[in-house]
Amino acid sequence: MEGEPEAPHVLIFPLPFQGHINSMLKLAELLSRAGITVTFLNTPHSHRQLTHHSDVLLRFSRFPAFRFRTITDGLPPDHPRTFDFFPDIIASFETVTKPILRDFLISGHFGSDLTCAILDGLFKFLVDADDAEIKIPVFGFRTVSACSIWTYLSVPHLIQDGQLPIRGEEDMERMITNVPGMENLLRCRDLPGFCRVTDINDYLLQFIVEQTQRSYEFHSLILNSFQDLEGPILEKIRTLCPNLYAIGPLHALLKAKFSNETESLNNLWEVDRSCLKWLDNQPPGSVIYVSFGSITVMGKEKLVEFWHGLVDSGRNFLWVVRPDLVRGENGDVEIPAELEEGTRKRGCMVGWAPQEEVLSHEAVGGFLTHSGWNSTLESVVAGKPMICWSYIADQQVNSRFVSNVWKLGLDMKDVCDRGTVAKMVNELMVDRKEEFMRSAAAMANLAKRSVSPGGSSYADFDRLVQDIRLPSQ
Ligand code: UDX
Repeated sequence: MEGEPEAPHVLIFPLPFQGHINSMLKLAELLSRAGITVTFLNTPHSHRQLTHHSDVLLRFSRFPAFRFRTITDGLPPDHPRTFDFFPDIIASFETVTKPILRDFLISGHFGSDLTCAILDGLFKFLVDADDAEIKIPVFGFRTVSACSIWTYLSVPHLIQDGQLPIRGEEDMERMITNVPGMENLLRCRDLPGFCRVTDINDYLLQFIVEQTQRSYEFHSLILNSFQDLEGPILEKIRTLCPNLYAIGPLHALLKAKFSNETESLNNLWEVDRSCLKWLDNQPPGSVIYVSFGSITVMGKEKLVEFWHGLVDSGRNFLWVVRPDLVRGENGDVEIPAELEEGTRKRGCMVGWAPQEEVLSHEAVGGFLTHSGWNSTLESVVAGKPMICWSYIADQQVNSRFVSNVWKLGLDMKDVCDRGTVAKMVNELMVDRKEEFMRSAAAMANLAKRSVSPGGSSYADFDRLVQDIRLPSQ
């Protein structure tokens, strides 16, 4: 209609990994449901995987203005594109994808009505802050916790003060005293995984720290977190990035605001739903759910230790063993003969689970997790206590917060011998069950409150939508 303002049009572009695509698709759905036109940009490889294994095309077909688009990552078709090759992937994005994206943005390739872009926060390097030809505001979205972002921002001070690098295994228990707001909390062991290097010029450390420091160059920063969980740290980040929206947990906001449907399945792997039937036959609170997310890999010895620990614990377990979880193998792992009976009696193993549904199932009493941020938030919302065995990056910080700040479980960081696994499973599921269930239920309530009308994430999302409609440059 004449005189009516055109609907805003947002481009969303995640890093090509499951944990990033998953949460940025949730953001895409939230914005679409709020009446905003969304173009979701993916690499052809991720787009193929995503559309092959999920109903994502059907789910988004209800938004006539929504569209998927692809842009090359510049890598050869047979490149493995796993996290082990992160430096290759980023280098290729910088040399090949960046100039193409720039051309697309300048030439109106995504439509002349494009009003803003939301890039993965680790993609700051894709758009130069002083590029006057890119006329739309560029927002950043970080998939990780505020507490991990704050430690990333502190890394240069830690290097300056001589607290980094870490001097080997015997140095891991040393307390880090100068991360503001976390003075008596973090040991070297709890610093982001990429700090475990002898050379502070290490590629991953430098890349993640630099991209995080440049967050203030974004028009605004969007975080998948909420005030009652990370309020004091969010305030600290706001001192550097005043335009900050904390709109998490995204999956809970989506349900609370717009839909009572079951989870949106944004999976890059085929989901095995048979485990839900298995769960239906287990007593309430009896099952420990075990999953290490989408990028963790481990040696066979570690897998076998976990396996013994789970069987020895005497508890029922549902375990996600991705076909590529064991380093160097790709396919089903054989059950060691001595574990066959225990696994058959008490276990269920799948290649990829419908995780949100699993976590909210009443048979599940706890979550042995790698502490990826999506998994952590999903567990918080479902009110399930956690045992944390972190793998990389943000996960080391998240797991310390789960155990020592939020009191939502136990931190098993860096050990996974069978005795420890069995002991911790029983501590969580039996000995200290009441205590952990109480704190998990309290945090789940706070999460739900934050995404309900009047809650902090609900309000921040409305503010984000308004600012997308009328962005101040
Ligand atoms: C990693 C980081 O660790 C994480 O903190 C960051 O936000 C994104 O990159 P990832 O290792 O994949 O992510 O873990 P996580 O953030 O927990 O995301 C995994 C997602 O896959 C979750 O949304 C989870 O529900 C889903 N999932 C996992 C399944 O749907 N089924 C499974 O079997 C396992």
